[in-house]
Amino acid sequence: MSEVLVIGATGTTGSRLTSFLRERGVPVRPAARKADRPGFVRFDWTEPETHAPALSGARAVYILPPPAVPEPAPLVEPFLHEAVRQGVRRAVLLGTSARPERTPGAAALYELVRTMLPEWAVLRPSWFMQNFAGRAIALRRRDGELISATGAGRAAFVDAGDIAAVAGHALTDPEPHNTEHVITGPEALSYDDVAALLTELGAGPLRHRPVGQDELAAHFAAAGMPRAYAELLAALDTDISTGSEDRVTDTVERVTGRPPRSFRDFAAAELR
Ligand SMILES: NC(=O)c1ccc[n+]([C@@H]2O[C@H](COP(=O)([O-])OP(=O)(O)OC[C@H]3O[C@@H](n4cnc5c(N)ncnc54)[C@H](OP(=O)(O)O)[C@@H]3O)[C@@H](O)[C@H]2O)c1
Repeated sequence: MSEVLVIGATGTTGSRLTSFLRERGVPVRPAARKADRPGFVRFDWTEPETHAPALSGARAVYILPPPAVPEPAPLVEPFLHEAVRQGVRRAVLLGTSARPERTPGAAALYELVRTMLPEWAVLRPSWFMQNFAGRAIALRRRDGELISATGAGRAAFVDAGDIAAVAGHALTDPEPHNTEHVITGPEALSYDDVAALLTELGAGPLRHRPVGQDELAAHFAAAGMPRAYAELLAALDTDISTGSEDRVTDTVERVTGRPPRSFRDFAAAELR
Protein backbone atom coordinates (compact mmCIF):
# COMPACT_ATOMS: atom_id res chain seq x y z
CA MET A 1 0.00 0.00 0.00
CA SER A 2 1.43 3.41 -0.87
CA GLU A 3 1.56 6.14 1.70
CA VAL A 4 -0.61 8.95 3.01
CA LEU A 5 1.27 12.25 3.10
CA VAL A 6 0.26 14.30 6.15
CA ILE A 7 1.14 18.00 5.89
CA GLY A 8 1.32 19.78 9.23
CA ALA A 9 2.06 16.52 11.02
CA THR A 10 3.55 18.30 14.04
CA GLY A 11 0.38 20.38 14.46
CA THR A 12 -2.88 19.98 16.35
CA THR A 13 -4.81 17.97 13.77
CA GLY A 14 -1.90 16.50 11.79
CA SER A 15 -0.25 14.88 14.81
CA ARG A 16 -3.54 13.26 15.83
CA LEU A 17 -4.20 12.13 12.27
CA THR A 18 -0.73 10.59 12.03
CA SER A 19 -1.40 8.58 15.22
CA PHE A 20 -4.88 7.61 13.99
CA LEU A 21 -3.48 6.21 10.73
CA ARG A 22 -0.49 4.48 12.36
CA GLU A 23 -2.75 2.78 14.91
CA ARG A 24 -4.70 1.32 11.97
CA GLY A 25 -1.61 0.12 10.12
CA VAL A 26 -1.89 2.69 7.33
CA PRO A 27 1.54 3.67 5.95
CA VAL A 28 2.00 7.37 6.79
CA ARG A 29 4.50 9.96 5.67
CA PRO A 30 4.34 12.82 8.17
CA ALA A 31 5.65 16.15 6.83
CA ALA A 32 6.96 19.27 8.53
CA ARG A 33 9.45 22.04 7.85
CA LYS A 34 12.10 20.19 9.86
CA ALA A 35 12.37 16.48 9.09
CA ASP A 36 14.17 15.82 12.36
CA ARG A 37 11.84 13.14 13.69
CA PRO A 38 11.78 9.46 12.68
CA GLY A 39 9.87 8.87 9.45
CA PHE A 40 9.30 12.57 8.72
CA VAL A 41 9.79 14.14 5.32
CA ARG A 42 10.72 17.80 4.85
CA PHE A 43 7.96 19.98 3.42
CA ASP A 44 7.59 23.74 3.31
CA TRP A 45 4.79 25.50 1.45
CA THR A 46 7.16 28.37 0.68
CA GLU A 47 9.87 26.07 -0.77
CA PRO A 48 8.36 24.45 -3.90
CA GLU A 49 11.44 22.27 -4.35
CA THR A 50 10.35 20.29 -1.26
CA HIS A 51 6.93 19.42 -2.78
CA ALA A 52 7.76 16.77 -5.39
CA PRO A 53 10.02 14.66 -3.12
CA ALA A 54 7.43 14.77 -0.33
CA LEU A 55 4.72 13.54 -2.72
CA SER A 56 6.77 10.74 -4.30
CA GLY A 57 4.91 7.45 -3.86
CA ALA A 58 1.94 8.94 -2.02
CA ARG A 59 -1.60 7.96 -3.01
CA ALA A 60 -3.43 10.39 -0.71
CA VAL A 61 -2.63 13.65 1.04
CA TYR A 62 -3.91 15.58 4.04
CA ILE A 63 -3.62 19.27 3.26
CA LEU A 64 -3.03 21.64 6.11
CA PRO A 65 -3.04 24.98 4.26
CA PRO A 66 -0.14 27.43 4.70
CA PRO A 67 -0.75 28.80 8.21
CA ALA A 68 -1.91 32.41 8.69
CA VAL A 69 -1.81 33.18 4.95
CA PRO A 70 -5.00 35.04 3.89
CA GLU A 71 -4.56 34.09 0.17
CA PRO A 72 -3.06 30.56 0.16
CA ALA A 73 -4.17 29.43 -3.35
CA PRO A 74 -0.99 30.61 -5.16
CA LEU A 75 1.04 28.31 -2.88
CA VAL A 76 -1.38 25.37 -2.94
CA GLU A 77 -2.35 25.21 -6.63
CA PRO A 78 1.14 24.27 -7.98
CA PHE A 79 1.39 21.66 -5.23
CA LEU A 80 -1.90 20.09 -6.36
CA HIS A 81 -0.73 20.07 -9.98
CA GLU A 82 2.39 18.19 -8.89
CA ALA A 83 0.29 15.78 -6.79
CA VAL A 84 -1.98 14.96 -9.74
CA ARG A 85 1.06 14.61 -12.01
CA GLN A 86 2.48 12.03 -9.60
CA GLY A 87 -0.76 10.04 -9.51
CA VAL A 88 -2.17 11.13 -6.14
CA ARG A 89 -5.88 10.28 -6.30
CA ARG A 90 -7.26 11.59 -3.03
CA ALA A 91 -6.88 14.83 -1.06
CA VAL A 92 -8.46 15.84 2.22
CA LEU A 93 -8.28 19.55 2.92
CA LEU A 94 -8.58 21.19 6.33
CA GLY A 95 -10.82 24.22 5.95
CA THR A 96 -13.05 26.01 8.39
CA SER A 97 -16.75 26.17 9.20
CA ALA A 98 -16.59 29.97 8.87
CA ARG A 99 -18.76 31.43 6.12
CA PRO A 100 -16.98 31.03 2.76
CA GLU A 101 -17.66 34.70 1.93
CA ARG A 102 -15.76 35.62 5.11
CA THR A 103 -12.80 33.42 4.17
CA PRO A 104 -12.36 33.82 0.40
CA GLY A 105 -8.81 32.44 0.57
CA ALA A 106 -10.04 29.20 2.15
CA ALA A 107 -13.02 28.97 -0.22
CA ALA A 108 -10.66 29.19 -3.21
CA LEU A 109 -8.86 26.09 -1.87
CA TYR A 110 -12.16 24.18 -1.57
CA GLU A 111 -12.74 24.84 -5.25
CA LEU A 112 -9.22 23.70 -6.22
CA VAL A 113 -9.45 20.42 -4.31
CA ARG A 114 -12.98 19.70 -5.55
CA THR A 115 -12.08 20.27 -9.19
CA MET A 116 -8.51 18.91 -9.42
CA LEU A 117 -8.71 15.59 -7.55
CA PRO A 118 -10.91 12.64 -8.51
CA GLU A 119 -11.36 11.78 -4.81
CA TRP A 120 -11.61 14.52 -2.21
CA ALA A 121 -13.09 15.81 1.02
CA VAL A 122 -13.11 19.29 2.52
CA LEU A 123 -13.22 19.37 6.31
CA ARG A 124 -14.97 22.42 7.70
CA PRO A 125 -14.57 22.15 11.49
CA SER A 126 -15.95 24.59 13.99
CA TRP A 127 -13.60 26.17 16.55
CA PHE A 128 -11.19 23.77 18.20
CA MET A 129 -11.47 22.87 21.90
CA GLN A 130 -7.66 22.84 21.83
CA ASN A 131 -7.75 26.67 21.60
CA PHE A 132 -8.35 26.53 25.35
CA ALA A 133 -5.44 24.22 26.21
CA GLY A 134 -1.69 24.51 26.53
CA ARG A 135 -0.08 27.58 25.03
CA ALA A 136 -3.02 28.32 22.69
CA ILE A 137 -5.18 29.80 25.43
CA ALA A 138 -2.61 32.56 25.98
CA LEU A 139 -3.84 34.16 22.75
CA ARG A 140 -7.14 35.05 24.44
CA ARG A 141 -5.97 35.57 27.99
CA ARG A 142 -5.66 39.15 29.17
CA ASP A 143 -5.23 40.17 32.79
CA GLY A 144 -6.66 36.86 34.01
CA GLU A 145 -9.69 37.08 31.72
CA LEU A 146 -10.71 35.30 28.54
CA ILE A 147 -11.42 37.88 25.85
CA SER A 148 -13.59 37.47 22.77
CA ALA A 149 -15.79 39.49 20.43
CA THR A 150 -18.42 36.74 20.45
CA GLY A 151 -20.72 38.43 23.00
CA ALA A 152 -23.30 35.87 24.06
CA GLY A 153 -22.99 33.95 20.77
CA ARG A 154 -22.34 30.24 20.87
CA ALA A 155 -20.05 27.88 18.95
CA ALA A 156 -20.07 24.07 18.86
CA PHE A 157 -16.38 23.66 19.80
CA VAL A 158 -14.91 20.42 18.47
CA ASP A 159 -12.06 18.22 19.68
CA ALA A 160 -9.09 17.98 17.30
CA GLY A 161 -9.07 14.21 17.81
CA ASP A 162 -12.56 14.05 16.31
CA ILE A 163 -11.44 16.15 13.33
CA ALA A 164 -8.48 13.81 12.85
CA ALA A 165 -10.77 10.77 12.98
CA VAL A 166 -13.02 12.24 10.27
CA ALA A 167 -9.90 13.05 8.23
CA GLY A 168 -8.59 9.50 8.71
CA HIS A 169 -11.82 8.02 7.39
CA ALA A 170 -11.96 10.48 4.50
CA LEU A 171 -8.41 9.46 3.53
CA THR A 172 -8.84 5.70 3.82
CA ASP A 173 -12.51 4.69 3.41
CA PRO A 174 -12.85 2.57 0.27
CA GLU A 175 -15.48 4.95 -1.12
CA PRO A 176 -14.25 8.55 -1.51
CA HIS A 177 -16.42 11.01 0.42
CA ASN A 178 -16.36 13.69 -2.31
CA THR A 179 -18.13 16.18 -0.06
CA GLU A 180 -17.68 19.00 2.45
CA HIS A 181 -17.94 17.90 6.08
CA VAL A 182 -19.04 20.52 8.60
CA ILE A 183 -17.62 19.11 11.84
CA THR A 184 -18.82 20.19 15.29
CA GLY A 185 -18.74 19.03 18.86
CA PRO A 186 -21.91 17.77 20.56
CA GLU A 187 -23.19 21.13 21.88
CA ALA A 188 -22.90 24.84 21.21
CA LEU A 189 -21.37 26.86 24.06
CA SER A 190 -20.83 30.56 24.69
CA TYR A 191 -17.50 31.90 25.93
CA ASP A 192 -19.28 32.51 29.26
CA ASP A 193 -20.09 28.77 29.34
CA VAL A 194 -16.50 27.87 28.47
CA ALA A 195 -15.04 30.17 31.15
CA ALA A 196 -17.43 28.68 33.73
CA LEU A 197 -16.50 25.11 32.77
CA LEU A 198 -12.77 25.82 32.82
CA THR A 199 -13.15 27.48 36.23
CA GLU A 200 -15.18 24.56 37.59
CA LEU A 201 -12.54 22.10 36.40
CA GLY A 202 -9.63 23.99 37.95
CA ALA A 203 -8.25 26.34 35.27
CA GLY A 204 -9.62 29.47 36.90
CA PRO A 205 -10.96 31.58 38.22
CA LEU A 206 -11.49 32.70 34.66
CA ARG A 207 -14.09 35.18 33.50
CA HIS A 208 -15.18 35.96 29.95
CA ARG A 209 -14.67 39.62 28.99
CA PRO A 210 -16.53 40.58 25.79
CA VAL A 211 -14.55 43.14 23.77
CA GLY A 212 -15.05 44.84 20.40
CA GLN A 213 -13.75 43.36 17.14
CA ASP A 214 -11.10 46.09 16.68
CA GLU A 215 -9.82 45.65 20.23
CA LEU A 216 -9.54 41.91 19.72
CA ALA A 217 -7.71 42.32 16.39
CA ALA A 218 -5.24 44.69 18.06
CA HIS A 219 -4.72 42.15 20.85
CA PHE A 220 -4.03 39.33 18.35
CA ALA A 221 -1.63 41.54 16.37
CA ALA A 222 0.20 42.57 19.54
CA ALA A 223 0.66 38.84 20.26
CA GLY A 224 2.58 38.56 16.96
CA MET A 225 -0.14 37.55 14.48
CA PRO A 226 0.09 39.11 11.00
CA ARG A 227 -2.28 42.12 11.00
CA ALA A 228 -4.49 40.90 8.10
CA TYR A 229 -4.94 37.50 9.74
CA ALA A 230 -5.63 39.09 13.15
CA GLU A 231 -8.42 41.17 11.59
CA LEU A 232 -9.89 38.13 9.83
CA LEU A 233 -9.95 36.09 13.06
CA ALA A 234 -11.50 38.93 15.05
CA ALA A 235 -14.21 39.33 12.38
CA LEU A 236 -15.02 35.64 12.74
CA ASP A 237 -15.68 36.27 16.45
CA THR A 238 -18.24 38.90 15.42
CA ASP A 239 -19.86 36.29 13.18
CA ILE A 240 -20.20 33.98 16.19
CA SER A 241 -21.94 36.84 18.05
CA THR A 242 -24.60 36.81 15.31
CA GLY A 243 -25.15 33.05 15.54
CA SER A 244 -23.03 31.79 12.62
CA GLU A 245 -21.59 28.86 14.64
CA ASP A 246 -24.65 28.08 16.74
CA ARG A 247 -25.40 24.67 15.26
CA VAL A 248 -24.50 21.04 15.78
CA THR A 249 -23.90 18.48 13.03
CA ASP A 250 -23.87 14.67 13.16
CA THR A 251 -20.69 14.41 11.04
CA VAL A 252 -18.39 12.86 13.65
CA GLU A 253 -20.84 10.10 14.57
CA ARG A 254 -21.93 9.50 10.96
CA VAL A 255 -18.36 9.22 9.63
CA THR A 256 -16.56 7.56 12.55
CA GLY A 257 -19.38 5.58 14.19
CA ARG A 258 -18.90 7.18 17.62
CA PRO A 259 -20.16 10.42 19.16
CA PRO A 260 -17.95 13.53 19.39
CA ARG A 261 -16.16 14.36 22.64
CA SER A 262 -17.84 16.84 24.96
CA PHE A 263 -16.13 20.02 26.11
CA ARG A 264 -16.40 18.79 29.70
CA ASP A 265 -14.54 15.54 28.87
CA PHE A 266 -11.93 17.46 26.91
CA ALA A 267 -11.33 20.01 29.68
CA ALA A 268 -11.27 17.39 32.43
CA ALA A 269 -8.59 15.43 30.53
CA GLU A 270 -6.55 18.53 29.64
CA LEU A 271 -6.58 19.90 33.18
CA ARG A 272 -5.86 16.59 34.88
N1 LIG B 1 -8.06 26.68 15.75
C1 LIG B 1 -9.32 26.67 15.35
O1 LIG B 1 -10.25 26.88 16.15
C2 LIG B 1 -9.65 26.36 13.92
C3 LIG B 1 -10.99 26.21 13.55
C4 LIG B 1 -11.29 25.88 12.22
C5 LIG B 1 -10.25 25.72 11.31
N2 LIG B 1 -8.96 25.90 11.71
C6 LIG B 1 -7.89 25.76 10.72
O2 LIG B 1 -6.95 24.86 11.20
C7 LIG B 1 -5.70 25.16 10.60
C8 LIG B 1 -4.61 24.91 11.62
O3 LIG B 1 -4.57 23.52 11.82
P1 LIG B 1 -3.83 22.85 13.04
O4 LIG B 1 -4.34 23.50 14.30
O5 LIG B 1 -3.90 21.39 12.89
O6 LIG B 1 -2.34 23.31 12.80
P2 LIG B 1 -1.32 23.96 13.85
O7 LIG B 1 -1.37 23.22 15.15
O8 LIG B 1 -1.54 25.43 13.83
O9 LIG B 1 0.06 23.61 13.19
C9 LIG B 1 0.48 24.19 11.99
C10 LIG B 1 1.26 23.13 11.23
O10 LIG B 1 1.70 23.69 10.01
C11 LIG B 1 3.07 23.42 9.85
N3 LIG B 1 3.66 24.53 9.11
C12 LIG B 1 3.83 25.81 9.52
N4 LIG B 1 4.35 26.55 8.53
C13 LIG B 1 4.51 25.72 7.47
C14 LIG B 1 5.02 25.88 6.16
N5 LIG B 1 5.48 27.07 5.71
N6 LIG B 1 5.04 24.81 5.34
C15 LIG B 1 4.62 23.61 5.76
N7 LIG B 1 4.11 23.38 7.00
C16 LIG B 1 4.07 24.42 7.84
C17 LIG B 1 3.63 23.29 11.25
O11 LIG B 1 4.71 22.41 11.23
P3 LIG B 1 6.23 22.82 11.45
O12 LIG B 1 6.23 24.13 12.19
O13 LIG B 1 6.76 21.68 12.26
O14 LIG B 1 6.76 22.89 10.08
C18 LIG B 1 2.46 22.62 11.97
O15 LIG B 1 2.52 21.22 11.83
C19 LIG B 1 -5.80 26.56 10.03
O16 LIG B 1 -5.85 26.47 8.63
C20 LIG B 1 -7.13 27.06 10.54
O17 LIG B 1 -7.80 27.87 9.60
C21 LIG B 1 -8.63 26.20 12.98
